[in-house]
Amino acid sequence: MTLTWTTNFPGIKTCTIGSNPQTLTGLAGANVKAQRLQKFEEASAHAPEIIVSQHTGKIILKMPIRKQEDIYGAGLKFHSIRNENNVVHLKADHYGGKDNGRTHAPVPFHVSSFGYGLLIDSPEPVSYYIGTPHRRDEKIKPVAQDRNTDDNWQAFNEPAYIEIAINADAATLVLFESNTLLETVQKFNLYCGGGTLPPRWGLGFWYRTPLRFSAEEVNRLVQKFKDNKFPLDVIGLEPGWQSNSYPCTYEWDQTRFADAEGFVQSLLKQGVRINLWENPYVAEKAKLYPQLEDKSGSHMVWCGIVPDYSMPEVRQIIQKQHDEDHVKIGVSGYKLDESDGYDSWLWPDHAEFPSGISGAAIRNAYGLLFQRLTAEIFHGHDKRTYGLTRSTNAGGVGMPYVLYNDCYDFDEYTTALCSCGFIGALWCPEVRNAKTASEWLRRFQMAALSPMAMLNAWADATEPWYYEEVAEQVREAIHLRQKLMPYLYTAFARYHFDGIPPFRALVMDFGDFMNETAGRAELDGTANPYQISTRKEITDQYMMGESIMVVIIKPGQTERDVILPPGKWYNFHTGAYAGCGEVIRITVGEKDPMPLFVKDGAVIPLQNGDEIQTVTFGDTPKGFTLYEDDGTSFGYERGEYQFREIK
Ligand code: GAL
Repeated sequence: MTLTWTTNFPGIKTCTIGSNPQTLTGLAGANVKAQRLQKFEEASAHAPEIIVSQHTGKIILKMPIRKQEDIYGAGLKFHSIRNENNVVHLKADHYGGKDNGRTHAPVPFHVSSFGYGLLIDSPEPVSYYIGTPHRRDEKIKPVAQDRNTDDNWQAFNEPAYIEIAINADAATLVLFESNTLLETVQKFNLYCGGGTLPPRWGLGFWYRTPLRFSAEEVNRLVQKFKDNKFPLDVIGLEPGWQSNSYPCTYEWDQTRFADAEGFVQSLLKQGVRINLWENPYVAEKAKLYPQLEDKSGSHMVWCGIVPDYSMPEVRQIIQKQHDEDHVKIGVSGYKLDESDGYDSWLWPDHAEFPSGISGAAIRNAYGLLFQRLTAEIFHGHDKRTYGLTRSTNAGGVGMPYVLYNDCYDFDEYTTALCSCGFIGALWCPEVRNAKTASEWLRRFQMAALSPMAMLNAWADATEPWYYEEVAEQVREAIHLRQKLMPYLYTAFARYHFDGIPPFRALVMDFGDFMNETAGRAELDGTANPYQISTRKEITDQYMMGESIMVVIIKPGQTERDVILPPGKWYNFHTGAYAGCGEVIRITVGEKDPMPLFVKDGAVIPLQNGDEIQTVTFGDTPKGFTLYEDDGTSFGYERGEYQFREIK
């Protein structure tokens, strides 16, 4: 079977297999950033040939992996950002401890270190076999080894191909070719609508209240924040604001929130915005129920109906109610929960939906559609929103939502932060609780250097000053974020206008500068019976914006190696020269801030009251292009913004 490609933009071509396939970008309502994409130059690097076949109801794509080529993406990961001999079966799901494709962001986009990326623009289940398949009829055959005689025996043969199986008879492919990995990701992001640009308040401090908090309790809490002189921009209400949750009514609970409008407005006057938790499953007692009953899937979740969000009329019905009951009274946004899974309470893949879209496809696109539904309400008011979602997919790059989950492993959260950069998503390493003051502080510091700085106290009722001995340092971490606001906001503008992820793994900016090969692993009959060795990758250091590298210090850690990528680097906190393309050892005081290193020549704008100050690093500062707009409306879509050169 031969593929017929259409070139849409320099280095971007699309191809449709079969007739009229659903697309993720279409379901998301993503608007391609055409003007910006036209500006890219033709790529010098090209993707290898894609060979296609169709059988057993599947489309199979096969493309070679070349020597020293690394593959990133293919869904959100928590253990490793690079796909080495990896098999993933992408499916929207909570994360069950393994990077096997069941994930909050089953984005079917993989990107190569050699500068190409492929999006399977389909909501149907997609499986990736990366480096693992070896066909009998191949020209490139691995060399067979003998474990009995060969000390260098490896369980994995030399990777030769990626095979991708799309569980459908029709699909759209989008191929991105670029000169670098970063440029490929930029093109993908711009094709999906460009990154989200949050309102400025969205980059402030967030606090989510305990499950059943009432208006009075929230008001008392807000006063406590004032007494503790702790910044507070958004209060998130958890399920208790509704008259029923699991399933939901989306209606205010009259005992806890008798005067919802008065409550929301009084907080707004104090500069605090309200964000509402919800899940998609509609309770029988909800006002919305009769209108949605015949527009829902065949199965229930927690005894609630599952509206078919792919149908515009369904979105409109829910939008109207949300607008009247929440947005018009001043609510700033939503936390969209439970759209991802747990097989045991979601609908089966064979569930039927009135739109005719398969149950499996609806599941993969549900978080995306949930985001679209809510984001459109705010767009209609020319007001930006920012919130949380437990699932997303390709096409969701421009959605004003950040991913989160219930897991809480410190290392997994840093890996997720890096992994999101490859798939057009953002990760919130939310703080919930901690076993020690050190853990509390390090979690807060990481959150302050992420897409969303949030304490989610829904189950633990913790407050920022929970560990008194580090309360001051926690406050400083959030103050640092406030100071970095002009820098961070500009990073998000670059995400929107140029597709550059604001938080990225180092490999995106610097390539595989470590150029390491995997050494031989020790044989261990229980822990490593196949003697599998892995190459080092960096997921505890990442780029934030144009020129700051964040170095993560784990709870209790007092020293570590820092890998400085090529070029000179300076310590952000002291201004001191740190090194140049080398590995340095640093020691960190228990209460010290998270180490930040800055590229040579960088100019960093800092907010100081109403003024913007700059700090420069190195002998010859290169300048900074500062982004400015009104911070709240969609004026930037109408050209109401400026990029100002700071020299
Ligand atoms: C979970 C969610 C938590 C919290 C909780 C409330 O699904 O991940 O953050 O919102 O629901 O029931």
